[in-house]
Amino acid sequence: MARPAVLVARAVFPETVQRLARHFEVEANPADRIYDRAELIEHLRGKAGALTTASERIDAELLDAHPQLRVVANMAVGYNNIDLAACSARGVLVTNTPDVLTETTADFGFALMLAAARRLSESERFLRSGAWNRWAYDLFSGTDVHDATLGILGMGRIGQAIARRGALGFGMKVIYHNRSRLDPALEAPLGARWVDKAALLRESDHLVLVLPYAPASHHAIGAAELATMKPTATLTNVARGGIVDDAALAAALRARRIAAAALDVFEGEPQVHPALLGLANVVLTPHIASASVATRRAMAELAADNLIAALGGGRPPTPLNPEVLARSARASGA
Ligand code: DGY
Repeated sequence: MARPAVLVARAVFPETVQRLARHFEVEANPADRIYDRAELIEHLRGKAGALTTASERIDAELLDAHPQLRVVANMAVGYNNIDLAACSARGVLVTNTPDVLTETTADFGFALMLAAARRLSESERFLRSGAWNRWAYDLFSGTDVHDATLGILGMGRIGQAIARRGALGFGMKVIYHNRSRLDPALEAPLGARWVDKAALLRESDHLVLVLPYAPASHHAIGAAELATMKPTATLTNVARGGIVDDAALAAALRARRIAAAALDVFEGEPQVHPALLGLANVVLTPHIASASVATRRAMAELAADNLIAALGGGRPPTPLNPEVLARSARASGA
């Protein structure tokens, strides 16, 4: 019987590709070319499965061009690049890579928050430029993180991991806003308190965004929200571009409406709003919060596990639309 064909849309670890090749006819992309829309459609020809990343948009038009596509295994926890409803409607199973990146992403979110508060990038750039010629009492003085109020917007797994670091490691007071409150058994060890969004903005010394991107979270932080934050506050985004209105943030940073920001994700990335690039009080990194070698390996392997299980007729470890599995089991009389 012919083996299913799969597309690995971006370069990943060669071992992951080799493993997939033991199960499937694999078309890989070791040169890591970013396929434009037409190329992606072309490369998906005849493929039953695809290993994708946040850079591939999977929507109704693409799915209609490929009725043979059965599984999309996204190598990311976020899946705003995928129209999940369109996939479910067409019986296409979608998987993501939760859990394996939680602690690594939380480490990085915390590092960004520290960097913004203590002006790390700005002071390093100053030193490297040769401008440092004396100690001064106020040289790059920033904002304390220990004992401060840590605000978290989006208290999922990564939000909770950041809260743990703040509460248990830095003595921070944790407040959060989320659609639903955490179980009190999870709140208690962190001393975490649910507050409404207005109070979160008003009370946070360091606000970290960890909510998923959806139309409802588009520009959740814009000029109006920034205007209610403390002038000494920092804002960190390790979630998705588009949650922050980058132009409004640049204006707020320039006017010192808030003290500093740290961004790992951007609207329209890899483009970065030019107004941000010219500002000293923002730390900018290229969407690398989950990028430790071990975690990226675990993400690639989990995406491969999902593809192998799903195309082999089994239950993938981390499905996003398990109703598709139930439907195909019913259809096959299983
Ligand atoms: C994720 O897993 O969602 C990371 O942001 C990588 O895209």
